[in-house]
Amino acid sequence: MVHSILASMSPIGSLLHESLFTALGSLPAGGRALTGRFIFQSRYRLATDPWDYRTRLDEHRRIQSIVAVAARHSRPTKILELGCAEGELTRALAREFPQASTVGVDISATAIERAKAQDRYGTAFHVADARTWNHDRCETADLIVVCDLLYYLGSTRQQRRFGAQLRSWLRPGGVLVLGHGADRADDLHESCGSSGGLIPLEDASTNRGSYRLAVYRSAPAVHRIASLVGEPT
Ligand SMILES: C[S@@+](CC[C@H](N)C(=O)[O-])C[C@H]1O[C@@H](n2cnc3c(N)ncnc32)[C@H](O)[C@@H]1O
Repeated sequence: MVHSILASMSPIGSLLHESLFTALGSLPAGGRALTGRFIFQSRYRLATDPWDYRTRLDEHRRIQSIVAVAARHSRPTKILELGCAEGELTRALAREFPQASTVGVDISATAIERAKAQDRYGTAFHVADARTWNHDRCETADLIVVCDLLYYLGSTRQQRRFGAQLRSWLRPGGVLVLGHGADRADDLHESCGSSGGLIPLEDASTNRGSYRLAVYRSAPAVHRIASLVGEPT
C-alpha cells in the first residue's frame, strides 16, 4: 500500500501523499470517487485511528482549537462535519453544542462504522463522498466544519466548486470553519473560500503556528440577491 507508507513518513511522505491526490484530481469524477474510497478504506483497514487523533497531544489541541473557534462565531442548531474520520472532532463538536443535531460524513465505511460505535450524542453518520453527497437527505446546516479534507479534493477549480457546494448547504448567516496544515492552508482556504457568498470572519493559527483555521459566514440572502443583480448592499 504505497499511499499508507507515504502517509506514515511525515512530513515529506505527507506531502507526497497529498500530491498523489492532486494528481488524482485529473481523473473523471467516478474514477476519483472510486480511487479515494479505495485508498481511505484500505488505510482504515490497516489501522484504527490512523492519524492518532485519540493519542497525540497536538491532535487533541488542534481539535480543541477548532471547537473553540467554532464556538466564538456560532450557536448552531445543525452541524455538518465533512471528512469526519472515526468521529473524534465530530464528538468534540457534539459535546460543545448539545442543543444541535450533528451529522458526520466520510468516504470510508470502516471509519463511519467506528464513529457510530463510539457515538454518545445521537450523531447521524453517513458514508459518502463529500463532493457528491446527496445533501437533500439533510436540512441546511448553520455550522459546517471541513478540517484536513481539502488536501484530497483535487485541483484549485475542484476546490472552488466544492466551496460553492458548501455555501449552498449553509443557511444564510451560517458559519463555515476550514482547518488545514499551515504549509497548505493559504492555497486551500483561498480556493475553497473564494467561490462567492462567503464572508471571511477570522483567520487563526494554532499548534505553534503549524495549523490554520479560516472562518467564513454565509452571506445573508438579501446580500446575495443584491450582489447577483450588481446593486450596492
Ligand atoms: C485526515 S482525516 C480528517 C478527520 C477530521 N476531519 C479531523 O480534522 O480531525 C481525513 C478524512 O477525510 C476522509 N475523506 C477523504 N476524501 C474524502 C471525500 N472525498 N469525501 C468524504 N471524506 C473523505 C478520509 O476517509 C479521512 O477519514
